[in-house]
Amino acid sequence: MSAKRALITGITGQDGSYLAEFLLDKGYEVHGLVRRTSSFNRQRIDDLYFKKHKDAWLHYGDMTDMNSLLHVVSVCKPDEVYNLAAQSHVQISFEVPYYTALSDAIGVQNLLESIRILGLHSKFYQASTSELFSGAPGEAPQNEKTPFKPRSPYGVAKLYGYEISRIYREAYGFFVCNGILFNHESPRRGSNFVTRKITRGVVDVVQGKQDHIPLGNLHAHRDWGYAPEYVESMYLMLQQPTPEDYVVATGETHSVREFAEKAFAHAGIEVRWEGEGVEEKGIDTKTGKAVVVVDPQFFRPNEVDHLCGDASYAKEKLGWQPTVTFEALVSLMMEAELKGEGTL
Ligand code: NAP
Ligand code: GDD
Repeated sequence: MSAKRALITGITGQDGSYLAEFLLDKGYEVHGLVRRTSSFNRQRIDDLYFKKHKDAWLHYGDMTDMNSLLHVVSVCKPDEVYNLAAQSHVQISFEVPYYTALSDAIGVQNLLESIRILGLHSKFYQASTSELFSGAPGEAPQNEKTPFKPRSPYGVAKLYGYEISRIYREAYGFFVCNGILFNHESPRRGSNFVTRKITRGVVDVVQGKQDHIPLGNLHAHRDWGYAPEYVESMYLMLQQPTPEDYVVATGETHSVREFAEKAFAHAGIEVRWEGEGVEEKGIDTKTGKAVVVVDPQFFRPNEVDHLCGDASYAKEKLGWQPTVTFEALVSLMMEAELKGEGTL
């Protein structure tokens, strides 16, 4: 029997790189969509499989360019499509809302339309997100039935992606699943997301390369899991007899402040907090120096305050369950950072 073919958009990103490895290990032929960039941005996939793996292929294209998607889908004829490509940074979406809508909303439609026009029967995974929820107090834990009320251009673009995916499922009988994934992190996380910013910042403070880490909202709570475990849930969704949408989360929530405390503790620095609002500082109890300061440039115009997911449906139907705890996640990210193993 010939190998199953998967097309992964966003293969150069955190999740795409882990998913590519996961599917290659399962014997898939993996095709990835990559953008032309003037500086090389394939470090997450290059050292892994793509220099040498016979079943891995890269194709140029862009989610905003329907021609390129039609071409790539027609060449690959994928059994499964994992649509992970997105302008995925929430704060940046306030600065580039139009582009975010093009790539994260219209891009999803472009890809679904390509499959439909070509008359293919590819199963489709859509990277939906806990940013669909408002994060309002009293709403958590969020599950598949919690109402959506996004708070950012990113969230609303993703809401379009979620709904257009559901519509292709209902209208055309497509096998489409939305994975409503809560935050998931790893040493391959982009360094402008808060967890990686903190782990890199701690190492830079320890090595004397910077005095402190400037952060935004320290109170925000996130349900942080470990990315390699989350990509398995994407695969599992597409192996079910019927297409459905699933929340994927740990069920534990922690503040940005707690993440910073744990990361510093891993490096042997105890932090105590002083002041309030923009004056709040994390102080190294031994030296008395500020190692965390609040910088308003990292505040968002609108914030999702509290995310904590209820993944019991994914556990029941997919048998999916996370194993990496918050403490273990901080430790493994710090260990990788101290060894210089994180993605730049
Ligand atoms: P990421 O590291 O930011 O990777 C995003 C990927 O999308 C990169 O490969 C990027 O390519 C590609 N991309 C962006 N715009 C594109 C476009 N117009 N055309 C083609 N490719 C484009 O994101 P991630 O953390 O792996 O997340 C994967 C997906 O899951 C995203 O859709 C994200 O919104 C969603 N999600 C993530 C989380 C999370 O906690 N990580 C949670 C829920 C949902 P370049 O390398 O060229 O920039
Ligand atoms: N990035 C960043 N930088 N965030 C900060 C900072 C900072 O300096 N200081 C505080 N935060 C807070 C943000 O305000 C937010 O409440 C929280 O830390 C997490 O921010 P990010 O790590 O940027 O992630 P996110 O939750 O906004 O979005 C990520 O998770 C979503 C799923 O809930 C992204 O991966 C999205 O693509 C994903 O959909």
